[in-house]
Amino acid sequence: MATNPSTSRGTWNTKLGFILAAAGSAVGLGNIWRFPTETASNGGAAFLIVYLVCVLLIGLPVMIAELSIGRSSKKNPVGAFRALSNNKFFPLVGVWGVLCGVMILSFYTIIAGWTFSHVFVEIFTFAGMDGAASILADFGNGYVNAIFALLFMALTIGIIRGGVSDGIEKATKLMMPLLILILVVMTLFVVFQPGAAEGLRVYLMPDFSMVTPNLVLAALGQAFFSLSLGMGALITYGSYLSKKENIVEAAGYVTLADVGIAFLAGLLIMPTIFLAQAQGVEIYDADGSFLAGPALIFQILPELFAQIGGVLGLIVGVSFFFLLSLAALTSTISLLEVPTAYVIDEHGVKRKKAALYVGLFVLTLSMIISFNTALIDTIDFIFSVIGLPLGGLLICIFIGYFWKTQSAVEEMKNGFKDIKNSRLISLWSIFIKYICPIIIAIILIRTIFS
Ligand code: PHE
Repeated sequence: MATNPSTSRGTWNTKLGFILAAAGSAVGLGNIWRFPTETASNGGAAFLIVYLVCVLLIGLPVMIAELSIGRSSKKNPVGAFRALSNNKFFPLVGVWGVLCGVMILSFYTIIAGWTFSHVFVEIFTFAGMDGAASILADFGNGYVNAIFALLFMALTIGIIRGGVSDGIEKATKLMMPLLILILVVMTLFVVFQPGAAEGLRVYLMPDFSMVTPNLVLAALGQAFFSLSLGMGALITYGSYLSKKENIVEAAGYVTLADVGIAFLAGLLIMPTIFLAQAQGVEIYDADGSFLAGPALIFQILPELFAQIGGVLGLIVGVSFFFLLSLAALTSTISLLEVPTAYVIDEHGVKRKKAALYVGLFVLTLSMIISFNTALIDTIDFIFSVIGLPLGGLLICIFIGYFWKTQSAVEEMKNGFKDIKNSRLISLWSIFIKYICPIIIAIILIRTIFS
């Protein structure tokens, strides 16, 4: 593992390695499952546009903020707030971040397990082993949920134990290009199917009458979740980043990769929904809204793969679920890295042990959720829909009023020499001090009181 001699913390070997790892954290089920689902149930292009605005006005500034805090302090989220200010409250924001990471990971592994089990569902269905396929496809089966969650967690722990450059960086450098390749090939395949146009129309033609406060909250929550913001994942990844690198540019690439892949996933999924409908698959539920959530990915799409049939159907189905599994794995890595880095830094535990203990702890929670999947929505609401924007709000307040935007700009100067001439930076400071916290606060307050 490459280590930084002054602190003996791991560091990224290359800039590309860092960008792929951070993009890997960002690109996950949030992009390929949650984004198309939210888009489908929120009026297509109208949601897409509000989402893009949230990413640009709030997500990108907060990402730059997190990376600056991380690289300046070279610490996990709890240690980072302690290192940069004497204020006693903000380390608690780090604790909240670690907690959000643990809780999100506890249910994320289960959904990740579903994506992986569906690789086998496709294979068993093709082989005519319908009994085995239906056992694996049953989300109500706690044992199946638990086994696949365990498998996924074991993979994640193994990678984290390898360290920053030899574990995380190597694994994501391999997985991200593969993920992009599969996604592009599948999207090209779907977009040119006869009948795909209706889905493309819904996806790309905005209906602004759909824009409601709830849609704006959904878009903001989606932006935080998808960019991995608000819980210190990028503080942690930033803490392994060399002073040579340009944080602003890196944040730009990571955001671009995340948005680009979400957009592509929309191009894949929206037409697929309508193709499935054309084949007679039901895509609306009783009250006329889109079948969202697990049904979309795990019912509608497999029915379409079955319609394609034969070896082609098998290849498309297996590739799709393998793609989702890869995307999920590069995200579970970052979700586990945050609490692991906390235990390493704050409790002096060695990486291999820390990863194992934290992983086993989270796995215990996952086991409970495996048998009570109804808990997923509640945990998701508290720790991602509310928890991440709340974390983001507090990070903005910390930089704007305690650590100060000038200190963050000083940190950004490393690797970005002509930053002073850059108008973007004064704009960034205004966003972090005023615009981002005000918008996030308004949306959060509205949600909590409705
Ligand atoms: N960004 C990941 C996704 O889109 C989820 C995630 C959230 C990962 C928060 C890390 C931290 O699936």
